[in-house]
Amino acid sequence: MNQPIVLGIETSCDETAVGIVRGRTLLANVIASSVEEHARFGGVVPEIASRAHLEAMQPTIMQALKIANISLRDVDAIAVTAGPGLVGALLVGVGAATGLALGLDKPMYALNHLAAHISVDFLTHAAPIEPTIALLVSGGHSSLLQVNEITDSIVKLGATMDDAAGEAFDKIARVMKLGFPGGPAIDALAHKGDETAIDFPRGLTTANDWRTRPFDFSFSGLKTAVARYIEATPDYAKANVAASFQEAIVDVLLLKSLAACKATGIDSLIIAGGVAANSRLRTLAQARCEKAGVRLRIPAPALCTDNGAMVAALGSLMVAAGRTPSPIAFDADSSLPVTTINI
Ligand code: KG4
Ligand code: ZN
Repeated sequence: MNQPIVLGIETSCDETAVGIVRGRTLLANVIASSVEEHARFGGVVPEIASRAHLEAMQPTIMQALKIANISLRDVDAIAVTAGPGLVGALLVGVGAATGLALGLDKPMYALNHLAAHISVDFLTHAAPIEPTIALLVSGGHSSLLQVNEITDSIVKLGATMDDAAGEAFDKIARVMKLGFPGGPAIDALAHKGDETAIDFPRGLTTANDWRTRPFDFSFSGLKTAVARYIEATPDYAKANVAASFQEAIVDVLLLKSLAACKATGIDSLIIAGGVAANSRLRTLAQARCEKAGVRLRIPAPALCTDNGAMVAALGSLMVAAGRTPSPIAFDADSSLPVTTINI
């Protein structure tokens, strides 16, 4: 029998994204981003994002179908991001998914965006995702998770106490006038700098922190330290600041991820979310995981930032696991906890 075809819709932030998978094969992954409309505001403006989703939703679905070379009638199930995210943005995707599920009379899976970020690995690596530790680092979230069963059981080991890692990249990029989003700009600039030039602080890594908050993160101290350094050094070397700041974030993310592997006895790490596209994080993770005997999986950079393939991938896993589809009427949840994988 043919593997089921799942169409996934993602609209939690500024990307209108549609992915189509057949089983674990990616057939299409189309992204219409409104990022340029937000850039001059230095961050995503919810109302602009919602309007852009409304305009882009239908053409994006049609383009994905065309690339996958299928018609709507070939789709076996619909998957959609139900949260967390901007509520007005989420509602556009949820409305589209509900309409499709009703019109096609197919099951719909209302899914967690964060679990979807991890699930996308399923399209790249043949091995089962779990059990694994997952470092989830995006613009809105930074968490360390223990994934027992991706469609059923995710345990939160720790999270950021203040800024998300991506948010820290975006804010420092703003201070350095590098534009929005800041992560890719800092990543590129850091290649020309020396990561040992400035010893910026590593949040929550004192002996006491390791005892009381081993798997939590804090980036606000680092952010302040970088801002102070820039203020006090008018002709600062931009590339060195970018490289040293990036190193401080990446170092802590990996220290804590590997500590989680050790504490749980799980020798597998998946790094997911937009910040997983960071080239220094990818290189250093490879080296440190090799040394620690931990199997590392990081999706291709284009699958790390928000996309529809990840939602379709989790939908496909839901179908394969025989999970109950979502009710046709459900509420999008802007603060859906990572432990709630589907609604
Ligand atoms: O997962 P994502 O696309 O959207 C959210 O769910 O938040 O993550 C976006 C975040 C942004 O903060 C962006 O600056 C960051 O991921 N990012 C990066 C890189 N590419 C994207 N951060 C560091 N290095 C990168 N290469
Ligand atoms: Zn995301």
